[in-house]
Amino acid sequence: MINAAQVGFGAAILAGVVLAIIGHPGPKDLPPTPPAVATAAAAPAQAAFVLKSVSVALPTSGVTFPGGAAADAINANCLSCHSAGMLTQPNLAKATWAAEVDKMIHAFKAPIDQANATAIVDYLAATKGAK
Ligand code: HEC
Repeated sequence: MINAAQVGFGAAILAGVVLAIIGHPGPKDLPPTPPAVATAAAAPAQAAFVLKSVSVALPTSGVTFPGGAAADAINANCLSCHSAGMLTQPNLAKATWAAEVDKMIHAFKAPIDQANATAIVDYLAATKGAK
């Protein structure tokens, strides 16, 4: 027959075994030791890292408006945002070109002064003007 003293003794032994398995709560709950600070010995691995250059061929347009000095204003002011290929319109009336240049300046904020705008409209009317 098992008496209360034997049950108590058994429970005490069991508790001791369980605590021994769990272990002391102290040191193992501390944060892990931080990794060693990189030393000079680690430097060669970093030096071995090589950046590779990749060459990407972007489409460029070297096309400019013909006409020499008469085309200076349009070449200097109209090719910063898009190529000359943007002007594929049929011949247009001078007023229509003036409106187009105005649109570039006011809608798209092309920084073109009045003298250049006039020279550009004259160029367009002369080279792509409606008869
Ligand atoms: C600040 C940038 C910028 C400059 C500089 C510029 N353009 Fe444009 N241009 C645009 C944009 C944006 C469009 C519209 C493109 C689209 O709709 O896909 C455009 C379109 C055009 C078109 C096509 C028709 C249209 O109205 O969309 C013509 C023609 C044109 N530009 C002529 C000119 C001329 C001439 C000049 C010089 C006076 C000029 N651009 C300078 C930005 C510019």
